[in-house]
Amino acid sequence: MVIAAVFAGGIGSRMGNSDTPKQYLELGSKPVIIHTIEKFFVNDRIDEVLVLCPKPWIAHTRALIEKYIPAGKKVSVAEGGATRNGTLENAIAYIENNYEVDENTVIVTHDAVRPFITHRIIEENVEAALKYGACDTVIPATDTIVESENGEVISAIPNRKMMYQGQTPQSFNAMKLKRMYDSLSDDEKDILTDAAKIFVIKGEKVALVDGETYNVKITYPYDLRVAKSFLEEQEDD
Ligand code: CTP
Repeated sequence: MVIAAVFAGGIGSRMGNSDTPKQYLELGSKPVIIHTIEKFFVNDRIDEVLVLCPKPWIAHTRALIEKYIPAGKKVSVAEGGATRNGTLENAIAYIENNYEVDENTVIVTHDAVRPFITHRIIEENVEAALKYGACDTVIPATDTIVESENGEVISAIPNRKMMYQGQTPQSFNAMKLKRMYDSLSDDEKDILTDAAKIFVIKGEKVALVDGETYNVKITYPYDLRVAKSFLEEQEDD
């Protein structure tokens, strides 16, 4: 079984003073989160979709799904966590309690605010998670990455050819992810920024899947403007 976990638990503070988290803002004719859910809903490799969102937004999310997503595949809504990592924890717990998890269960975790995910990316994620146990979607870094430990002076300039920018999805063998997560100390959990890091910390392989430059994360108002023009371009094709 393959479960898509759509992470929509954030409040979008960098988007500015909107009362509406960015995943609920309109992009074209429907909210960002609906574009993202649809991509998984229509993909044959995905059996069920789990959406994790802030508690006050659960009823609204359910109503949106009812309005825009046709019957067929099961789409569940659960509460996200206070941090992105907390949302991952909730996803793991929800899946453990509500699905029949076995050695072949794969979780495809994806940011609700990356509505331009493609079927190729989803398919390659599922394949890589089945083969390697974990994978991360990346694009080669285009800018030189500069490292600074104190924010004042450069401490290292890594070779750009070895640098990638992480996108999502990140996908995992569900049982392995749970085992890895349970084996972390509280300190290790605190420094986690994403789930692939759990595998890296534990010395496990994480395969690379090619992302797309347009698989952007809507973070700032500028990104929403870019997303709108990209959507218009797609619709013109
Ligand atoms: N996310 C989540 N749970 C959280 C925080 C973030 O599921 N507690 C999700 C967001 O909803 C988003 C994705 O993780 O789909 C990427 O995170 P980010 O862009 O940082 O979203 P926000 O936390 O909402 O934004 P900001 O940092 O500007 O507040």
